[in-house]
Amino acid sequence: MKRLFVKTWGCQMNVYDSQRMADVLAPMGYAPVDRPDDADMVILNTCHIREKATEKVFSELGRLRAAKQARQDAGKGDMMIAVAGCVAQAEGAEITARAPFVDLVFGPQTYHELPDMVATAARQGGLVNTDFPVEAKFDHLPDAAADPGVSAFLSVQEGCDKFCTFCVVPYTRGAEYSRPVDRIVEEARRLVARGAREITLLGQNVNAFHGDGPDGKAWGLGRLIYRLAEIEGLARIRYTTSHPRDMDDALIRAHGEVPQLMPFLHLPVQSGADRVLAAMNRKHTADHYRAIVDRLRDARPDLALSSDFIVGFPGETAADFAETLRLVTEIGFAQAYSFKYSARAGTPAAALDDPLSDAEKSDRLTALQQLLNEQQLAFNHAMVGRTIPVLFDRAGRKPGQIQGRSPWMQSVHVVAPARLCGSIETVRIDQALANSLSATLVLRDAVALAPDVPDAPARARAAHRAAAAGR
Ligand code: 5AD
Ligand code: SF4
Repeated sequence: MKRLFVKTWGCQMNVYDSQRMADVLAPMGYAPVDRPDDADMVILNTCHIREKATEKVFSELGRLRAAKQARQDAGKGDMMIAVAGCVAQAEGAEITARAPFVDLVFGPQTYHELPDMVATAARQGGLVNTDFPVEAKFDHLPDAAADPGVSAFLSVQEGCDKFCTFCVVPYTRGAEYSRPVDRIVEEARRLVARGAREITLLGQNVNAFHGDGPDGKAWGLGRLIYRLAEIEGLARIRYTTSHPRDMDDALIRAHGEVPQLMPFLHLPVQSGADRVLAAMNRKHTADHYRAIVDRLRDARPDLALSSDFIVGFPGETAADFAETLRLVTEIGFAQAYSFKYSARAGTPAAALDDPLSDAEKSDRLTALQQLLNEQQLAFNHAMVGRTIPVLFDRAGRKPGQIQGRSPWMQSVHVVAPARLCGSIETVRIDQALANSLSATLVLRDAVALAPDVPDAPARARAAHRAAAAGR
């Protein structure tokens, strides 16, 4: 067995890609380990979205260089170091210049060729592959790993044609590509057969999905969701990350009609000021965003929203920033990510005048985050006393606890036997913390609460899951 360590930064698409890289390498005898020190191969799956994300890669490479050397000195053989993902795509040449001990550099579009690339890199002492192949990698990937977990990711779309002026994604991930519907349904069925109860559909612009349907027509994301909802045993469907422009009627209707589609949506708005949105080339106004949220909430009144924000975009005035705060106050977010603008080489915004001081950007970020944190806490507090379904997927942090997610993506922990992982249980929320909820299992039946038998037969667990799936 060869040891493979994969470290992942960035979005969920990278998490999915990392899993698939491990799948591709498994037939070569690579098995995942959770430490880099003694690995035969280390892959850094990187993110280029902001400057900080990129710099982290180079500091990690510094540490790996020492580990590689130590392994060689100890006579344990070589450690192949690979840099993958968006930094690799954007800065392939810079990586080999700054870190010549890196053996392999490959972008997000070529990892289905990993076995060949690994062999070539070993033979010729290094390889850089940042092609955008004509054939989509998805058609050349093996089946997903045997155990996808209770909550699985499924990539349905990749790339972006929107060209927001601040963003590197259209350059690192390339043009929009949607997988054919049949392939997606097949992969979803396999995931469910292997124990997934929840699937999150992934794409940089996932609601721009327009995959070939079995009827020869292009299907949108809404139609795909209706189709996936027919899969027995698939209890929860989510998708991320979406763009306000692509929130079409069918998708909005799906939010109202498909019970498996969870009432939580990450819908980035970036700014509340039309001037800034125009300069960002977002192709929507603040009112357009408000109108979409209204329609979504009409369809699904308990829908909770999440967003991304950028503060200090070049030219953002205090009045523009106030517009962002106003939008946040009006909409009310259950959760959000906010960032200081970070100029990225090669993007149109990088050429704009940026007179705002870093201190002013920091002040705006603090003010926005304070408001968003208050909203998140209020949203969590409103759950106290409620009885809600939770999909449990892992052991909790404290002994005897298990942890899962509410329909609104909140992390929920209860004291309960570990075998309930994989099932959806009703809980009563006792307490709201900043980032999680503490709850008590509502007694379904005595069996559900009986303590774990250490080596409880797998069959019993499977029967329990089947029963839960049938509810
Ligand atoms: N600077 C700051 N934030 C950025 N994002 C993307 N590009 C930049 C940038 N250059 C943020 C956006 C996007 C999220 C994934 O990252 O808010 O939605
Ligand atoms: Fe980047 Fe805009 Fe595309 Fe999102 S929609 S990936 S922010 S260019």
